[in-house]
Amino acid sequence: METARSLLITGGAGFIGSHVVRHFVRRYPHYSILNLDKLTYAGNLANLEDVAGAPNYSFVRGDICDLELLRRLFQERRIDGVIHLAAESHVDRSIRDPFVFARTNVLGTLSLLQAAREAWAGAEEGKRFHHVSTDEVFGALHPGEAPFCESTPYAPHSPYSASKASSDHFVRAYRDTYGLPVVLTNCSNNYGPYQFPEKLIPLCILNICREQPLPIYGRGENIRDWLHVEDHAQAIDDIFHRAPDGEVYVIGGLNEWRNIDVVRLLVRLVDEELGRAPGSSERLITYVSDRAGHDLRYAIDAAKLRRDLGWKPRYSFEAGLRDTVRWYLAHPEWVEQITSGAYARYYESMYGPAAAAANK
Ligand code: NAD
Ligand code: DAU
Repeated sequence: METARSLLITGGAGFIGSHVVRHFVRRYPHYSILNLDKLTYAGNLANLEDVAGAPNYSFVRGDICDLELLRRLFQERRIDGVIHLAAESHVDRSIRDPFVFARTNVLGTLSLLQAAREAWAGAEEGKRFHHVSTDEVFGALHPGEAPFCESTPYAPHSPYSASKASSDHFVRAYRDTYGLPVVLTNCSNNYGPYQFPEKLIPLCILNICREQPLPIYGRGENIRDWLHVEDHAQAIDDIFHRAPDGEVYVIGGLNEWRNIDVVRLLVRLVDEELGRAPGSSERLITYVSDRAGHDLRYAIDAAKLRRDLGWKPRYSFEAGLRDTVRWYLAHPEWVEQITSGAYARYYESMYGPAAAAANK
């Protein structure tokens, strides 16, 4: 059995964070797991209802930019491990409002690094700061080009990826300058339950159900490398526990799909689940203006992670997507809560109008 740890997981009420929290709470009952999340529009405690009462889990609502709060939490909870997922995560939002991305993703990460550095100064042995980042920092690939790997140069294009790249550079800087024990991972596109329905896959599942248009940016030929979120959580577990200090890993499923093909597959799966005539929802496919600066292709070569730590994805794409479709169909109350005003009103009643406004 590993030694007991006091883990801080940031962004644990979001999509990937909630899977990571669930994974660690269940698998490591002897750990103390603190979820720090601001509960923005993307954070939802309903994502964690099944583990919220676990004795090894606790939650604090707070902002990763609040250095005083971070200092207090590190001291009071004797934090010895951080898994940092809190971020603004949606590219389209970053195009509309880049500043909040710089604040949370850059300054928030810097605050967390600083709090860890201060708390662990002179006692770095056994400590670990795991920064969860994205493959978007590497920019875009052309068809035929080799997939991204750990030595691919950074070339971010969107305000989102620029902010994540900046946060990665601060993580490397804290490793190289102050000796902070970090690991850094860059993962490809995740899918699965609890993903906020602004992202392509849940948006299309719900729109197919409601017979609403399926907006395809440009010609639908952009390529993403899709990985089930539970496979990402397992990779984080493997790397957090077993990677050497300072290592970087890219994570992905070698599972490249054109957007239009993903949407056609979703049409087939949802139509089957709803007993509709095969392909009847294809008529909902609607080509719309392209995303500004839309990266053509992402792909990951996770050979280092397979070789060093034996990780490989468990989910095939079609099986994982079918499970995901079934999850969204089986949880209309989650969808209703997150897409209606009920969610905003709940937070207003819990935390007051100012918090509810900040949460939007
Ligand atoms: P998400 O948007 O679903 O969740 C983000 C969470 O962070 C939310 O719970 C939100 O409330 C919280 N948060 C935002 N700002 C905060 C702040 N200032 N202080 C504290 N909490 C704050 O995001 P996600 O898709 O789950 O992504 C999680 C992480 O993984 C991000 O760092 C993202 O860059 C990275 N990532 C995501 C993907 C993907 O496909 N979704 C792929 C690779 C890497
Ligand atoms: O690659 C990892 C990244 O994947 C993460 O770092 C990001 O946090 C995450 O949001 C995701 O970014 P993408 O921009 O790739 O995901 P999104 O679901 O927004 O879009 C997937 C593809 O689908 C992309 O090429 C844009 C396209 N798209 C998206 C939406 C929302 C559409 O064609 N129509 C849409 O309505």
